[in-house]
Amino acid sequence: MVAESTLSQRIQDASKSFHQDGFAVVEQFLSDDEVEALRKESLRLTVEESLKECHKAQIFDNDYNVKSQYYLGSGERIRYFFEKDAFNLETEELVGPIEGSIAKIAHAVHALNPIFKDVSTSPKVQETFKAIGFNDPRILQSMVIFKNPKVGGEYIPHQDGSYLTTDPPEHVAGIWLALDDATEENGCLQFIAGSHKWPLKRRFFRAKTARPDGAFLEWDNPPEYYEDHTFVKVPVKRGDMILIHGLVIHRSDANNSSKPRWIYTFHAYDKSKSQYLKDCWLQPEKTNTFIPVQAN
Ligand code: FE2
Repeated sequence: MVAESTLSQRIQDASKSFHQDGFAVVEQFLSDDEVEALRKESLRLTVEESLKECHKAQIFDNDYNVKSQYYLGSGERIRYFFEKDAFNLETEELVGPIEGSIAKIAHAVHALNPIFKDVSTSPKVQETFKAIGFNDPRILQSMVIFKNPKVGGEYIPHQDGSYLTTDPPEHVAGIWLALDDATEENGCLQFIAGSHKWPLKRRFFRAKTARPDGAFLEWDNPPEYYEDHTFVKVPVKRGDMILIHGLVIHRSDANNSSKPRWIYTFHAYDKSKSQYLKDCWLQPEKTNTFIPVQAN
């Protein structure tokens, strides 16, 4: 079926599902060459750049992030966060090779790396945002998420709008690009279909004053629990794209398989219909990383 439809048709079809369910798959969104270029650059950044930017013990974990200047500053830089299980906690040495140890590269890859910028602002991405009704999409953040075999952790149920909140909150969307096949075994995305029509459940934001424990980022509400059976698992092939509404509840399991699940994802808001809140955790203070999808 894919071979018989054009990418433009698939994007149009996906925009309908996106509005109905809060997510949608566009098969074969990236060419093999584009996937290869993104994989190669992700590996180069990991091997050549990561330890120049960070101390190797920088991990990605909520309890750690809320007190971390390294995390706070990652909104306008390309920074590297390691998996918790990638370290021997006693020796602080990496357990395996660095290529399999990083959880994510974030959060301004789209603005500061030319290869990722090209893909994030490509005509087909412009077409996608137009199809879902965005008049002036501005990219807020981007991440390469590795979810490597055995160490790649789970992401608990969340709305992306909790981290990237606009007023009103429904004008945020993510583009999620599979750089490997994402399967039920290696941690494909899972969604509660239709939950994008629910309100924003909780927010992660900059506290007005630092808390006694030193945290300067905080949550306004605890996470909610959702029954397993309410989630739809969405396995996709390498090169496929998933459109994610900023309010849809989604999650992914840890990767306990022997296969990697690399992805590149970025989020944009529609500046013509909403305002990005000034107390969101991510605030570019020195560099304008909120670039337009469409050059103007
Ligand atoms: Fe998410």
